[in-house]
Amino acid sequence: MTAQPFDAVVVRPAARLRGAPALPGDKSVSHRALLMALLAVGESRIALAGDGADVRSTAGVAVALGATVERVAERAGRVDYRVISPGGDALAEPEAILDCGNSGTTTRLVAGLLAGRPLFAVLDGDASLRRRPMGRVAEPLRAMGATIAGRHGGTLLPLAVTGRARLSPIDHRTPVPSAQVKSAILLAGLAADGETRVTEAVATRDHTERMLRARGVAVGETTGPHGEHVVTLAGPARVAAISETVPADPSGAAFWLVAAAIHPDAEIHLRGVSTNPTRRAIIDILRRMGASIEEHDLPAPGGTDGEPLADLVVRSSELRGIDLSPAEVAAAIDEIPILALAAAVASGTTRIRGVGELRHKESDRVAGIADGLIALGADVRVLGEDIEIRGGARLTGAVTETLDDHRLAMTFAIAGIIARGTTTIDRAESAAVSYPSFFTELERLRA
Ligand code: S3P
Repeated sequence: MTAQPFDAVVVRPAARLRGAPALPGDKSVSHRALLMALLAVGESRIALAGDGADVRSTAGVAVALGATVERVAERAGRVDYRVISPGGDALAEPEAILDCGNSGTTTRLVAGLLAGRPLFAVLDGDASLRRRPMGRVAEPLRAMGATIAGRHGGTLLPLAVTGRARLSPIDHRTPVPSAQVKSAILLAGLAADGETRVTEAVATRDHTERMLRARGVAVGETTGPHGEHVVTLAGPARVAAISETVPADPSGAAFWLVAAAIHPDAEIHLRGVSTNPTRRAIIDILRRMGASIEEHDLPAPGGTDGEPLADLVVRSSELRGIDLSPAEVAAAIDEIPILALAAAVASGTTRIRGVGELRHKESDRVAGIADGLIALGADVRVLGEDIEIRGGARLTGAVTETLDDHRLAMTFAIAGIIARGTTTIDRAESAAVSYPSFFTELERLRA
């Protein structure tokens, strides 16, 4: 691996992969822990949080809204935070625009949090975030009583939010499965008089529900007559300050799961990974493809809100192609880029169905995956809302375009360790959005 101008990274084939990479703290849990600490009065502790740029954006927003956020320790690329807040009823009106950087989760969850607070705030972010759809969160928050203006009819950043101390509860059905939209509405529901209800066609990640419950908020979950997931929250409600340990991020672990499975001489240990049922699809899908993944359950450390944890061991495997349904795509939404790489080298054909939502992530990931893997010699076709990958590719190093998307950068780097020749990852620094030590860990595993 060599650094190049403009932060390109060159990855060469690895003879073998061995070791236990340091994993980032779960990004979804870290964002929520910081925002719930902001809403709670007094001191909250957050151990082993993710320390990528996205989580730092949320920490910056918490400071701008009146919390003291102290980095008390840094360990293995993760950070322990101490947050002291005046609480949700005494937030400060931010003096400047809230910079959400590259983080959709920061933007959408903070919009929900602010809807029920009598303040004016403007949310903005980088060029990628300014392209991402915000109408899906602005529209239900307006229905609850917040005033939200923005570009393109109030659907694109910058968004100006004028909240209200009391909101009306809503009964909202999300048009696309989205944990961010669900979470925004639940955070707004904390300031609503009565029961806020969110119905989603398939259950998305449930960290907000678990973490609010752990902080004393009554959150209900039921399954509707057509299998839909219904979440209810009784407002108004206060969030209590607690201490919490963040599990390792399964979406970060996913890169090593695939790296070991597709490499001919690999054994990688992944410690303390969240195996939350709404996050573990990547493990189960890879096993269905034939991956050898051992799972050793761990007792959950205190204050993790019951997130199940496991140590994983993954070894070289013979993968075969599979058919992924739209519900499976929703369950593994952040892992589709790295799964597509697994499919490219597996035997047989993989069909990934219903990938439309991937066009609205940090980049258009449908185009990004297809173009990058085709450049490396894979057989990838985009057929409407599906991606079809004919496996068995012998990848050859190439220059890959990451579109400044952290998950594409890490996917193409993993491709580079099995491809012939050298693979260049353009603007590879985007990996630091979720996994700042990714390239260091890659070097350690091959040593
Ligand atoms: C996230 C939800 C997902 C996911 C994102 C993190 C969250 O987005 O892609 O990386 O923390 O709630 P959507 O809710 O928009 O699908």
